Amino acid sequence: MVFVCGDTHCTHDIEKLKKFKEGKGAQLTKNDYVIVCGDFGLLFDNPAVLTWKREVGQFISSCSKDNSWSERELNLLKWYDNAPWTTLWVDGNHENFDRIELYPISEWHGGRVQKISDSVIHLMRGEIYDIDGHSYFCMGGAQSTDRGTITGTEWKDEGTIWWPREIPTDVEWEYANRNLAQRDYKVDFVITHDVPSGIDIGAFGYRSSKVSEELETIRTVTDFKWWFCGHMHIDRDYFWKHLSVLYNREPVNVEEYIDWEVDNELV
Ligand SMILES: [Fe+2]
Repeated sequence: MVFVCGDTHCTHDIEKLKKFKEGKGAQLTKNDYVIVCGDFGLLFDNPAVLTWKREVGQFISSCSKDNSWSERELNLLKWYDNAPWTTLWVDGNHENFDRIELYPISEWHGGRVQKISDSVIHLMRGEIYDIDGHSYFCMGGAQSTDRGTITGTEWKDEGTIWWPREIPTDVEWEYANRNLAQRDYKVDFVITHDVPSGIDIGAFGYRSSKVSEELETIRTVTDFKWWFCGHMHIDRDYFWKHLSVLYNREPVNVEEYIDWEVDNELV
């Protein structure tokens, strides 16, 4: 079985998964999956940089290549490893991309992944995976809305709370479109962090960006059953657009969405 949930932000928004582990998730096995729609944040802390910043008030970019895990991250990794299921995640914007990039790339279910552990697997931008008979197009990334909130200047925060790699490159968009074209732009599910700009995100105080606009282009040309995303920190189903924005609700079972029109007698 495959379930999907919204941003977890390392330990900050993990409560939904803790509840899930005690309930529906308890019956799952490592051959079942929970996909986190970005801002997973397991790899986020950088104690060396943060300490140095506090003491000296400046930033050394070489420190951001340090892949030492903080205590809360190590405890959380153990928690994920001990969970009954396997956790998959697309990257959002609150990820330490300098650390993610240190992990080797391998092949998994038809696409490239980075295994943080046997139970925690990064689904990479533009890939399409075949899992339990369904295809999943994945595209991480989003533009941070909070650059500069800690130090007051964006350049000092770079590499500590935001990374330029949060925005997919032109090459990554081209790669994603090439993969979709190989499937005639037809997949079962789409998993992203950001929300396509065609969704009424303005009502929730979000502005469109290059990322949400690129996703909107993909949304208009792709035949999909359901699109799951995060980023906006709200829980809302846009049934008429076959799209759900996830945040604090417990992981949802994709099977409940695949035949939504049939189940609701709309065909
Ligand atoms: Fe988030």
